[in-house]
Amino acid sequence: MSRSWRFDTPTQTLTLHSDGGVPRVTYWGPSLPKGEDLAQLARLATSDVTGGMIDRLPDLTLCPLARDSFPGQPGLIAYRGGEMLHPDLRLFAADDHHITVRDDSLGIGLLFSFTTDGDIISARTVLETDEPITLHWLSAPVIPGPQSGDILDFSGRWIGEFQPVRSAWTPGLRLREATGGRSGHEHPPFALFPEAGATNGQGSVSAMHYAWPGGHRMQAEELPDGRRQIQWGHAAGTQGTGTRFETADLLLTRSNAGLNGCATAFQRHIRDRVVTWPNPTRPRPVHYNCWEAVYFDHDLATLKDIATRAAALGAERFVLDDGWFGRRDDDTSSLGDWVIDRTKWPNGFTPLIDHINSLGMTFGLWFEPEMVNRNSDLARAHPDWILGPENQVEGRQQRVLNMALPQVRDHLFSQISAILSTHDIDYIKWDHNRLLPIADATQAHGTLDLMARLRQAHPSVEIESCASGGGRIDAGILRHTHRVWLSDSNDALERLRIQHGAALFLPAAITGSHVGPRHCHTSGRVIDIRIRAWVAAQRHMGFEMDPRELTEEEAEVLTRVTAWWKANRDWTMTADILRLDSEDPAIIAEMQLAQDGSRFVAFAGRAATSGQILPRPLRLTGLDPNALYRIRLVNVEDAHRLSRGKPALKNGPQEASGAWLMHHGLTLPWSFPQTMWVVEGERL
Ligand code: GLA
Repeated sequence: MSRSWRFDTPTQTLTLHSDGGVPRVTYWGPSLPKGEDLAQLARLATSDVTGGMIDRLPDLTLCPLARDSFPGQPGLIAYRGGEMLHPDLRLFAADDHHITVRDDSLGIGLLFSFTTDGDIISARTVLETDEPITLHWLSAPVIPGPQSGDILDFSGRWIGEFQPVRSAWTPGLRLREATGGRSGHEHPPFALFPEAGATNGQGSVSAMHYAWPGGHRMQAEELPDGRRQIQWGHAAGTQGTGTRFETADLLLTRSNAGLNGCATAFQRHIRDRVVTWPNPTRPRPVHYNCWEAVYFDHDLATLKDIATRAAALGAERFVLDDGWFGRRDDDTSSLGDWVIDRTKWPNGFTPLIDHINSLGMTFGLWFEPEMVNRNSDLARAHPDWILGPENQVEGRQQRVLNMALPQVRDHLFSQISAILSTHDIDYIKWDHNRLLPIADATQAHGTLDLMARLRQAHPSVEIESCASGGGRIDAGILRHTHRVWLSDSNDALERLRIQHGAALFLPAAITGSHVGPRHCHTSGRVIDIRIRAWVAAQRHMGFEMDPRELTEEEAEVLTRVTAWWKANRDWTMTADILRLDSEDPAIIAEMQLAQDGSRFVAFAGRAATSGQILPRPLRLTGLDPNALYRIRLVNVEDAHRLSRGKPALKNGPQEASGAWLMHHGLTLPWSFPQTMWVVEGERL
């Protein structure tokens, strides 16, 4: 039996073919014509055989297997009774979206499913067995890597997320594995495969994201015969023993419009299809988060004063961070005791919430549900609820609750739900500040289950995914959450860079960005309010400094930028973020282009001094070459007196064609480092 499948999105086609065994990807690229003979394509793609290899080239299938003498990493590694399993999988059943292959004698079946949505293809593998097996590795459908270009993935750390890493394809394996039970800072589950010459705005690029918050592995391997394969799955060995295992969805997209084509497909998919908004028409509210203002030092009068000032600056949601529960005066105690600390809050939250509501703001609250300190009532009552060995090394003085236990989830549900039911709360900042002592997929399943239950019971509450900043960002957690705390770095220069990296996947509407203190707590830099405000205004805006530190001038700048953000959020929060190919490495620049193309804003952040004297023209992208645009330098008042010339943009709105803006580019005034130009454009 032989059979072919094809999956089309508006810009791409992916085809599969099977001659009776496990199917293989025969094409993934720009759209193929309708009616293309897929069996013929499979024949045409059949490779030669020569010396130095076995007598037939083992197929690079959706699950390549060691039993076929496959010369690379297999897609399945599993054991029964201490023996490695080597199934002979044959095509068993199929429809247009699901394909089952089975080995009846071993009682093992694999189901591959493919769906399309917008410009995203989702692929998943399910493994079912008649008798229990122990799984070490199961890949989502294995995709051949491109023959040209290189690998762009990310590393990162606390206060340093989304650092791009470029590697050449070389013989052998590039393995990225998040083993800590989170999608992680270190190996975020995203990768792009730009072909030679691809830039932000041009060239052929494919991209992948593994939608799982519990830790994953990517294997990008060049085989001795020259073929390349890309595998994604749960972190190895985290799924234990059983009869049913599944990968998360592997999200695939590709583009002939450079990295931006993939970025916008992911941004739209995550914002419009993955996240489920309690109230989709509600504008994203400007946040105020008190963490860097007061830390654990909660005092009603102070927080009311801060709230009043934050509201005057434009904040619309006040978030009370860590320190409100148990006896939590520092990070050594009380995680697990989600009961209001009456020594800090003798009359509970009501006086604060009433005050916040009277200012027109809503109220949000910090939790770290999966964690426990040994110094807590919960740990004393239920030491058996704690994950991992007694003599484990702690992280931030804390341990992890075993979320696989229903009684743990019930306890957390009842404590969190009690607070949500008795207070006017519309937002949870859900933190996860340490790695698991031993990573296990059941932990992430337990967390997702608890989130789903809380959301069902409290459907108007939004959740932010935080894990020491950006340690848990993926489309798996975003099915239940609405915002990510991209980084604990509120240093505007760091944030500018981190946001630029994250924009390859994340839309503005879910990416939190706050104006931090003048004297940055995580870098020691002293940073001007203008760039702090504009960097926050690139994403879902908020403030995190103590507003009592603001000078009159700083408050005026921040109020003005916040007002600009609010006046534009109806379209910027649904716009595509397009990274600009700046010819000057000191400039980190992007555009936000309205979905209908009618308007845009370009942000040109100067992160460093330039090699040359004057700014290089900044070429825009994504415009209609034949349309005329009115462009305006929004923050012309930020021009320094050392900018002594007369670039036209300093004299008010100007007009130019899309072609000129894309091929010549904006001539911006000279500026100091640590500044940002903001240019609005409108199609006439
Ligand atoms: C983590 C978060 C911070 C803050 C603290 C509170 O570090 O990333 O934003 O909430 O926890 O302890």
